[in-house]
Amino acid sequence: MTNDRIALVTGASRGLGLEMCRQLAARGVTVLLSARDLASAHKAAEIVRADGGDCRPIALDVTDAGQIAAVAAELDSSYGRLDVLVNNAAILTDLGVQPSATDEAVLRANLDVNFVGPFMLIAALSPLLRRSDGARVLNLGTQVGSFGNLDDTRSPLVDDICPAYQASKIALNAATALFAKELRQEGITVNSLCPGWVMTDMGHEDLPDYGDAVAPMSPTEAVAQMLWLVEDEPSPPTGRFWSQGEEIPW
Ligand SMILES: NC(=O)c1ccc[n+]([C@@H]2O[C@H](COP(=O)([O-])OP(=O)(O)OC[C@H]3O[C@@H](n4cnc5c(N)ncnc54)[C@H](OP(=O)(O)O)[C@@H]3O)[C@@H](O)[C@H]2O)c1
Repeated sequence: MTNDRIALVTGASRGLGLEMCRQLAARGVTVLLSARDLASAHKAAEIVRADGGDCRPIALDVTDAGQIAAVAAELDSSYGRLDVLVNNAAILTDLGVQPSATDEAVLRANLDVNFVGPFMLIAALSPLLRRSDGARVLNLGTQVGSFGNLDDTRSPLVDDICPAYQASKIALNAATALFAKELRQEGITVNSLCPGWVMTDMGHEDLPDYGDAVAPMSPTEAVAQMLWLVEDEPSPPTGRFWSQGEEIPW
């Protein structure tokens, strides 16, 4: 795709979000780099701009309806449309906790950041996505949040327990399918993608039963294999769940 394109990436202060901004900007996309802390967004945007990219820092806590509305208004007045939305922001705060021991506040927080926020963001930005010539929405999911892996004893992921995170990412996959269905006729694609196990703050977490193993992928490698869905493929599929270029089960 060529590039007077406008992208918004959530949770881009660090990790995969920041790297997504860097790689999109390197391709000539105008990137709105959002973070819940504006100072962090400024710092991250400097890193992107150091590589020559066009990058604007903005404040967005995805759980804040007022900030979502403000970002939609800002995009409307500055650009009149949105071409790429990457719902990347997430928390994982219940690793190794059994469902019966889950704290209600933790459950609600994971659902808010990982599901309700991205859902309401897509809804708020859908008028702007509709004005794009082929908008792409990418929701960052996880195979740990693949429904089939939850209690399948043959799955290598069956012992990765983080119920609030898992439930929130399964709900996010539902959002992918629902918005894909609504927006398909307008040429807007909506997909979920698991990046694999990536060396970020989240990917550094000690995963149960992984011993001393470390994440095998860098953010640079992980983002490089995501871009086909938002930039490279002229007619990408929609309403699907992907990892490493392959479709995977919900
Ligand atoms: N790393 C992996 O192995 C892996 C595997 C599967 C899926 N994923 C998914 O990939 C995505 C990125 O993960 P990552 O590894 O880059 O995670 P990370 O390093 O922990 O970064 C998470 C980002 O989300 C932001 N964030 C948290 N709460 C937010 C909120 N309420 N509003 C806006 N931003 C918020 C954080 O901002 P602050 O700096 O303000 O905290 C941070 O920028 C996530 O959706 C994750 O579930 C990652």
